[in-house]
Amino acid sequence: MILISPSLLAADFSLLKEEVELITAAGADMLHLDIMDGHFVPNLTFGPPIIKALRPLTDLPFDVHLMVENPDMYVEPLFEAGADIITVHVETASHLHRTLQAIKEKGLKAGVALNPATPLCSLEYIYADLDLVLIMAVNPGFGGQQFIPQSCAKIKTLRRHLRNMDGAPAIAVDGGMNPETAAKVIAAGADIIVAGSAVFGAKDTKKMITALRG
Ligand code: DX5
Ligand code: ZN
Repeated sequence: MILISPSLLAADFSLLKEEVELITAAGADMLHLDIMDGHFVPNLTFGPPIIKALRPLTDLPFDVHLMVENPDMYVEPLFEAGADIITVHVETASHLHRTLQAIKEKGLKAGVALNPATPLCSLEYIYADLDLVLIMAVNPGFGGQQFIPQSCAKIKTLRRHLRNMDGAPAIAVDGGMNPETAAKVIAAGADIIVAGSAVFGAKDTKKMITALRG
């Protein structure tokens, strides 16, 4: 079963309540929340207060993607705000093991994201501590970018690597997802599709979510 995590970044920010209710009713499996700090990535979004305000609107798990230079600083506030999964970028975590432990100590699921140019080998000794690997199929910072085709080879290699691992992390893919690119990454081994513009730009949200599942 492929899970769909719509990215709120592509929602109408003047109608966040309606947008969250829309994707909940349309059958999304979780809600992807992109936190950007204007340093790690050249864009700013929202933080824990907005997430806290959205929490009562849906039962969907909150899948937080941290694109910030100091991820440790946000673990406690995100826990308080109601996050279920916290994903940090390997490029930002100088003590990745410690950061993941801090997330798990809160009883949350822990993920690690890799930029398109970051090799998989940076995760070699940390797989056992991970619930999720988020493969970026675009350079993080903005929605609506084009899928980087080399991502498929990376996902295939990761899937092969995880094949015989007990409690292997899920593989999520973020960026440039539409029904065609989602089909490619699912064939390569993805479990979770993160999609912003495809879902929030769709005329029929439910149909789009079904189409993304492949
Ligand atoms: C980009 C974000 C994505 C973004 C995806 O840095 O991490 O989650 O919202 O947007 P689309 O699906 O439009 O590429
Ligand atoms: Zn994201």
